[in-house]
Amino acid sequence: MRKALSIFILVLVFCNDFVFGTGQLDGGPGQLWKYDEFNGGDWNRTYGAIEPQQIHISISSESEYAKVQFATAAKTENAILKYWPKNEAHKTIQIKDGENWAFVDNGTAQHTIYLHNVQTKKLKPATVFQYQVGAADQRGHVTWNKATFEFHTARKGHTVNFVATADIGLVNAVAVPVLKRLAASHKYDFLTLSGDQAYDMADFNGTKGDEYMRFVESVFANIPFMGGVGNHESAYNFSHWKNRFNNVPYKKSGFDNPMQYSFNYKSLHIVSWSSEGNFEGSRAEMETSLNWLEEDLKEANKHREKRPWVIVLGHRPLYCTSFAAANDTSCTADTTTLRDGLLNTTTGVRTGGVEAIFDKYKIDMYLCGHRHNFERTYPVMKGKVTSKSYHNAPSPFQYLVGNAGNFELTIPFNTTGPFPDWSAARYSGYGYSTVMATKHQLELTHYGITNNGTGHKIIDHLIVTKD
Ligand SMILES: [Fe+2]
Repeated sequence: MRKALSIFILVLVFCNDFVFGTGQLDGGPGQLWKYDEFNGGDWNRTYGAIEPQQIHISISSESEYAKVQFATAAKTENAILKYWPKNEAHKTIQIKDGENWAFVDNGTAQHTIYLHNVQTKKLKPATVFQYQVGAADQRGHVTWNKATFEFHTARKGHTVNFVATADIGLVNAVAVPVLKRLAASHKYDFLTLSGDQAYDMADFNGTKGDEYMRFVESVFANIPFMGGVGNHESAYNFSHWKNRFNNVPYKKSGFDNPMQYSFNYKSLHIVSWSSEGNFEGSRAEMETSLNWLEEDLKEANKHREKRPWVIVLGHRPLYCTSFAAANDTSCTADTTTLRDGLLNTTTGVRTGGVEAIFDKYKIDMYLCGHRHNFERTYPVMKGKVTSKSYHNAPSPFQYLVGNAGNFELTIPFNTTGPFPDWSAARYSGYGYSTVMATKHQLELTHYGITNNGTGHKIIDHLIVTKD
């Protein structure tokens, strides 16, 4: 009877979820997670002291280099990456000279894990590589991770494909089983994630971060992770983000830490920019953030002929219409702060906004999350629609894809309207997007996922073009 009742309750919860209800599940900030239908498996088993875990891969521009990061429970200075072209194990390259450091969570337990970054040599293009990572003890005995992971380098031709997502929790991670399949398919060259993971990594002395990183390993180890930071990574000055995602190409981008970086891939220049400066940081941090962004975009614009599309990846939206509660300022005061900056109450002037920079350097698209739903704008600047056409648009449009699934269910939209004229498409179910880019076209498809994680359907399809 009790079992029947719990199944009934579960069905109610997910039905509510399916019809886009509001509410929260357990497993959010400050709460323990538990297994559900989206996070099953043995990823949270006991690992050996130096057995590699939490493995994930990132790339530098044009996939010239890949950098694999992983953790061990015990200290070892001897981290190893071995990789080889698929089915050509005799061509294995083994690299030992990586970066190894202790990451101490700032909670009372000072929970410590040991992190390792190992970079490949220059990679051959259009190749599927397989890899494993290992760690050696003091006697030189190596413990390798059990699975063999794969990634591929840039293919011939002009087309690039990537998956875009954001806001992935450890519970109710509806999109993760799908992302796992997409990662393994080799159809996509990398994955962007516009911030907010684990809810929160710093919980329970940082052990929730360990659990999350084990959970998403089957995604992030099989497709280059090119994600950015969100407000849920803000604990201890973003230390979980800065340490756990230290393999993103920030050094090659001239930034001090993984909070910001950029990379090129065929016709794309993609910038991962932190939208958190005006919310979780200081004035000085915001200035550093925007100055770097401006320099990066200035440089990107020198190569616009070769790489016409400039995409900025951030967490918080500049525009959104959804609401979670009466006191929710995410789509009102917060979007104004992000666009125009913080208000000086003495002078009445706002400074530190990002929208003027997007306008000045004519970025094409701002890819974000934070709101747990999907919303696309028309090309828009300073709150005004600049074009209803996406051909040679005079200003960027925003593409919000924050509906991967987490404890918060999804955030609804007002069902009756009216909506601002810049809001072109809205969807309050779960989903993910894919982007296919050529020199003259971006094709963006948003797929909805039904509540049991299957049943994809196209929710939104957009072709963006430029001459
Ligand atoms: Fe967020």
